[in-house]
Amino acid sequence: MENALKIQAHYDFTDFDVQNLCELKIITEKYVDDFPAAFFNHVKRFDKAGKYLKDAETIKRHQFALKEWFKKLFCGNYGAAYIDELERIGQKHVDIELDPHYVNAAMHFVKSYSIDIIQREVEDRDKRRHLLQSIEKILNINLDVITSSYIEEEKKKYLISQKFEGFLIGFSERFSYGLNLILVLGLVAMGAMVMGLFVYDLSHIFEGNIEKGLLSTLGSLLMLWVVIELVDTEIEHLKGGKFAISVFIGVALVAVVRKILITFLKAEAVEAQISLIVAVGVLGGVYWLVSQVDKKKK
Ligand code: HEM
Repeated sequence: MENALKIQAHYDFTDFDVQNLCELKIITEKYVDDFPAAFFNHVKRFDKAGKYLKDAETIKRHQFALKEWFKKLFCGNYGAAYIDELERIGQKHVDIELDPHYVNAAMHFVKSYSIDIIQREVEDRDKRRHLLQSIEKILNINLDVITSSYIEEEKKKYLISQKFEGFLIGFSERFSYGLNLILVLGLVAMGAMVMGLFVYDLSHIFEGNIEKGLLSTLGSLLMLWVVIELVDTEIEHLKGGKFAISVFIGVALVAVVRKILITFLKAEAVEAQISLIVAVGVLGGVYWLVSQVDKKKK
């Protein structure tokens, strides 16, 4: 159904109302000059009215626009062009960022003003009732369409922010995926380097330095194990699994253990060895605590 017809149907606005509004055109004719002035007298009491109707020029333009709008309420053509015009008026108020509450309050004034005229000018009770019903319908339609511009504006803002959010999330996801791939490549490169270290450490054995060769080979094997763990964890993470913090503590543990092996070989100061052993103890404790939490979660 065409928008204008749909609105009319929802307000039960019929040809009878059009006829009533035509009658009202004659009745209200003598008030068209007074209306904008009375409107302004009422509206200027709104606390921020001066912010919008800020100078004599704007007030004059508004008075003129209001007079035209008031005249078109009566005996007009209430089709698509009328609704479009109301939407434009609504949009104008949205553009100047007028609080919709002011439009509602001002429309309330227009209703009271029109009701007063009808009460004053129409003596017949039934006629008065019909005219009142029709003016109420057309003013409600006006308010509905004018304020719908505010709702449309809100929807637009929401859609834009939703689109931007979608773009931002999509971009961050792709960026994070790219970083993860770089991490995997880095870990693979690390694996290759540890393999090199392993071969180098092994060479000490063939050179006859068996103790150094064995201990440092053990250290590089431990590092290889850690790299494998890290690659596995990262792959799991890329497949959507959770990140295992325990692996990182494992890395630190292995690094300290390797250091201990090397310091034993070099027969360095006992204090250094003790502090490394304490570090292993602390890291071991943390590793145990984290694995307990992981177990509970599973
Ligand atoms: C029943 C309520 C109201 C109606 C029917 C109405 C009607 C109109 C109309 C027909 C226009 C001209 C639109 C255009 O040509 O684009 C307009 C513009 C404007 N209205 Fe209203 N208005 C209402 C309430 C208010 C209120 C409460 C304020 C301020 C407190 C206000 C401030 C303005 C301003 C600042 C403009 C722009 C004027 C210009 O710069 O030309 N209006 N209004």
